[in-house]
Amino acid sequence: MTLADVPEAERISDEGFFELDSRTRRLDGPEPQRRSDPHREVWMRRTRHFVETDPGGCWVAEDETGLVGMATSYRRETLWCLATYAVLPGRQGQGIGKPLMAAAMSHGRGCTRAMLSASSDTRAVRVYHQAGFQLHPQMYLTGTLDRSAIPTVDKVREGTASDFELMDSLDRAARGAGHGPDHELMLSTWRLLVSDTSTGSGYAYLNERGSLALLAASNRRTATRLLWAALADGPDEATISHVTGANQWVLDVGFAARLALHQEGYLALRGMKPPSPYVHNGALL
Ligand SMILES: CC(C)(COP(=O)(O)OP(=O)(O)OC[C@H]1O[C@@H](n2cnc3c(N)ncnc32)[C@H](O)[C@@H]1OP(=O)(O)O)[C@@H](O)C(=O)NCCC(=O)NCCS
Repeated sequence: MTLADVPEAERISDEGFFELDSRTRRLDGPEPQRRSDPHREVWMRRTRHFVETDPGGCWVAEDETGLVGMATSYRRETLWCLATYAVLPGRQGQGIGKPLMAAAMSHGRGCTRAMLSASSDTRAVRVYHQAGFQLHPQMYLTGTLDRSAIPTVDKVREGTASDFELMDSLDRAARGAGHGPDHELMLSTWRLLVSDTSTGSGYAYLNERGSLALLAASNRRTATRLLWAALADGPDEATISHVTGANQWVLDVGFAARLALHQEGYLALRGMKPPSPYVHNGALL
């Protein structure tokens, strides 16, 4: 993939995920939606970042009609992550996706750990299992936030780039590798909250919709404090995404806030256990 391919790759991923959402929609779930213009911008910015930091990890498949598939992946220290992976609807199940995944994975040779957030797509999970990934179900908490349940939150402040060293240390403890250059991208797009006390430290990013995008902490107490702070400042219609079974503390908070629980997709891991206390991001893991 080159920088010039990014807008076309965005279209493929939008079509791929819209079709997937329409095909796998829960009866009580929200109506599937195309990516909004602001979200499209965030997606393209992030993908350009991966092409720049990891040109060898980003691939497209093309034929005479143009691009038909894409995969973006990156290495951070000894960890390889798959950010996005999609084949155009109508062209899926024809052997395009597997070689794309193989090309992206060749970029991760020499990494001892690997991580990706998988959809529930039957082909995707088959490919990941065959590639040696263990699949850990992901939970989601959604609903109207009960603001009367929010406790008084202190010892949380706005974060800055001077916190990156601490944050990379927390990342290393949780997932074996710092986010490195991804912190610059996230801080330029999202809001950063930090808690750093004598008993524990942690951080949380809130995405462009005000929802939790990523959280890491040295203990559950600090993680819980950050999650409440994120919910307090977030929208009334709250979403906490990508919760693994190793992070039951998130359910304590989510149920106290009267959110509803459901399940979607998997955290796929190789060479590591589900990070905790940690809430991963879908693409920046
Ligand atoms: C996941 C995806 C990228 C795979 O690409 P693809 O071109 O469809 O995959 P391939 O044709 O290479 O097939 C992959 C495997 O799935 C199998 N497969 C094909 N159709 C299938 C079906 N309907 N059900 C189950 N398995 C199927 C293939 O046989 C192959 O396995 P095998 O090599 O053991 O035979 C693509 O299906 C997609 O874009 N899905 C929607 C978006 C998505 O979920 N992306 C992943 C996000 S984490």
